[in-house]
Amino acid sequence: MSFEQQKTFFIETFGCQMNLHDSEKVAGSLVSQGYRQVLSAEDADLIFYNTCSIRDKAEQKVFSRLANFKRLSKMGKKFAVIGCVAQQEGERIFERAPHVSLVAGSASYRNLPEMLVQIERGERATGLDDRNTEETFETEFTARTNPHRGYITIIEGCDKFCAYCVVPYTRGRERSRTSESVLEEARRIVDSGLTEIQLLGQNVNSYCDPLGRRSFAELLAEVGHLAGVRRVRFTTSHPRHFTREIVEAIDTVPTLCDHVHLPIQSGSSRVLDAMAREYTREQYMERISWIRAAKHRTISLTTDIIVGFPGETQEEFELTMSLLEEAQFDAVFSFKYSPRPNTPALVMENAISEEEKTRRLAVLNDRQREIQRVNYARHVGQVVEAMVEGYQTAREQVTGRTSQNKPLNFTVPVGVAAPAVGGYVQVRVVRSHPNSLVGEMCLAEEAEETPAAYSVI
Ligand code: 5AD
Ligand code: SF4
Repeated sequence: MSFEQQKTFFIETFGCQMNLHDSEKVAGSLVSQGYRQVLSAEDADLIFYNTCSIRDKAEQKVFSRLANFKRLSKMGKKFAVIGCVAQQEGERIFERAPHVSLVAGSASYRNLPEMLVQIERGERATGLDDRNTEETFETEFTARTNPHRGYITIIEGCDKFCAYCVVPYTRGRERSRTSESVLEEARRIVDSGLTEIQLLGQNVNSYCDPLGRRSFAELLAEVGHLAGVRRVRFTTSHPRHFTREIVEAIDTVPTLCDHVHLPIQSGSSRVLDAMAREYTREQYMERISWIRAAKHRTISLTTDIIVGFPGETQEEFELTMSLLEEAQFDAVFSFKYSPRPNTPALVMENAISEEEKTRRLAVLNDRQREIQRVNYARHVGQVVEAMVEGYQTAREQVTGRTSQNKPLNFTVPVGVAAPAVGGYVQVRVVRSHPNSLVGEMCLAEEAEETPAAYSVI
């Protein structure tokens, strides 16, 4: 088939890193079926939206995209809606947007080749009934789009059923891959030239090796020991399954990054119980004390918080505020509670008004910004390692990231070539903002003279 005759596809992704990586796998699968990826919907024969339904706003985006691009269906282009909105809305999507040909949830992606044949024949295809599967979506054909980080899904789905969350309904039950297949994929990633690996799962630390060979912490350490791996990250951890063994692995395996993302959701044990989170504030703080007690590393801690969960009183919100002071997070992803279909919280009493949720969110974000201003300022004067992620040509800066996952943008001395994307350099931090650091790249000799200081906070 000539280049011009080849069928083309475009894929737009909404939502979390799991979705971004699913899109890489879907794209790889399409390429292996003879399709070619293009960078705009206008240029594509087949348009994929990989959707997110975690909050209402995320969900609305796909319907506005479909409405905007309806005219393209008259030109013979086909539309596919995949991911969480697809799973949640199912065939109702065909009613709302009749120009859609394929609707599939993430548990069905391994059947994509068959579904593609169906839509090529002019039929509609659905993949909605596979959520009870034991199988994971393993494909050899991942089209990795991140130029410096290789994602590996180690566990799919979620069995936690937090009262506010759609994920267990959209992504189905938890299923882990064998640790052998994870290690094999990690080796392939390193062979392809990437040195940073991120292990992914909605609930990454409930990982349970189907062959019982390795615990999550052992797998983490073993990925970190692979030749050629420079940085290993993992997300998202659930406090209930967060063990001392994970801290021990980070503390002793130098390639494991100094960062843990551990969503708390609320500082009130009463609210945590209503959310069905399976831990108390005290148990969460105990895990933080393990993280802070690491002997060799200063591990940065970030979290997710929901404000305005049904029934959250002003006093309970203040407990979340006092938790911010105690925990001293380096980043907080904060959200107004958003009622989601099928979830138990949908019918809970004492809903908090939109206005009050907005107020609580602003109070929380204002305080957290100040905490971060202080935390980030502690880096000024330190020399830290940055991985190069790209360039901001207008500001003549290189964009990078520290092991603690902090953005570090830096200038390069006059006459020195800018380092390549994916490379590692030592950078002296000269300024800080509440969400990023600014620095100057060190020359090789200078970096050797200055002891690298990772210890902050
Ligand atoms: N409303 C608001 N935030 C939510 N999250 C998940 N579900 C909801 C919801 N219904 C947030 C949680 C989770 C993050 C990924 O999204 O904080 O950790
Ligand atoms: Fe949702 Fe809770 Fe599962 Fe996280 S652990 S994906 S918040 S149900």
